[in-house]
Amino acid sequence: MTSLFDSVALRAEHVRTVTARNRLWISPMCQYSVFAEDGLPTDWHLVHLGQFAVGGAGVVFTEATAVSPEGRISPRDTGIWSDEQAHAWSRVAAFVREQGAVPGMQLAHAGRKASTYAPWGMDGRGTVPPEDGGWAAVAPSPVAFGRYAVPSALDEAGIDGVVADFAAAAERAVGAGFEVLEIHAAHGYLFHQFLSGLANTRTDDYGGSLENRARLLLRVTEAVRRAAGDRAVFVRLSGTDWAPPELADRAWDQDQCATVAGWAASAGADFLDVSTGGILPAADIPLGAGYQVPFAAHVRRSAGVPVATVGLITDAAQADTVIRTGQADAVMVARAALRDPHLALRMARELGVPLDYVPGQYLRAY
Ligand SMILES: Cc1cc2nc3c(=O)[nH]c(=O)nc-3n(C[C@H](O)[C@H](O)[C@H](O)COP(=O)(O)O)c2cc1C
Repeated sequence: MTSLFDSVALRAEHVRTVTARNRLWISPMCQYSVFAEDGLPTDWHLVHLGQFAVGGAGVVFTEATAVSPEGRISPRDTGIWSDEQAHAWSRVAAFVREQGAVPGMQLAHAGRKASTYAPWGMDGRGTVPPEDGGWAAVAPSPVAFGRYAVPSALDEAGIDGVVADFAAAAERAVGAGFEVLEIHAAHGYLFHQFLSGLANTRTDDYGGSLENRARLLLRVTEAVRRAAGDRAVFVRLSGTDWAPPELADRAWDQDQCATVAGWAASAGADFLDVSTGGILPAADIPLGAGYQVPFAAHVRRSAGVPVATVGLITDAAQADTVIRTGQADAVMVARAALRDPHLALRMARELGVPLDYVPGQYLRAY
């Protein structure tokens, strides 16, 4: 039986296997800490991500890292659209690797949710206007997210530009030393906007049928796969829009998610990372321990692809049970790891699993 502290191969067909030492991984978390607003990661990012690698996690993901300046959620996001940014990230990737964790980067474009004020440390809410350093957002359709500014619809050239930006970003991320590249297609950001009929009203090859709505994500997955070489490629999807019944006929749901997950695997994704929500500003979400696990389990069962699950998984026995019962191949944690960056080491102790990767510097504490 597979358990939480068993290692796992991250590449579907491995030329050179990328292996994670365990199945407890750090989920991407925006830090809104690029105060210079130039997309360059700082010492904050090194220490913040480094602590999770010291703390025993199997894979440590960067925050949503923008593939282009206009793809940033806020002016304080990190980026990977320049060589200077890649160079700054290489220090973070090297440190994470030196501690025995796999460094992963989440590649992102916020689409209609771009150019917003950071949730803390900035005076403002919602869309940042141009006079305050904001920019015009792009999306599949001119449909706003709640009270955010109305985005402009991407034309064919704009769509090709997004594919090229992801390919270039993936190449830079590999050059910087990242061994997993995750395409962010969840939480109501650009690719999820294309996938969900609640944000995509296009009538061309990128709207309408599921094939059309998934076309951009699959093009990007193929491009990132090519750029990734022997590194692993993940795709983060939302398992549902949590839409009310009156919107259900246009919304994204778990069966569409499982179908597209299978297509993404055929296009070169090694792992699907299943979260939920983000397309509707106010959704009625039945929050509770492990509430998103069934969505990952559905994708794993229906599409037959390796999956990671995430969301209110805070306890060692709970995380271990998800793996032992075959609901997911890995567990990602966000907030519990902010409270305890050494969560993996603590969970191993609680489960009575001896680890040979407690840092020598900290051995006297164990
Ligand atoms: C501070 C913070 C920042 C986040 N930023 C991102 C992000 O950049 N990309 C992403 O896919 N999810 C992001 N999330 C969502 C988490 O990755 C995770 O899916 C969610 O918090 C549920 O997991 P948890 O219950 O373990 O916190 C963020 C969550 C938090 C708390």
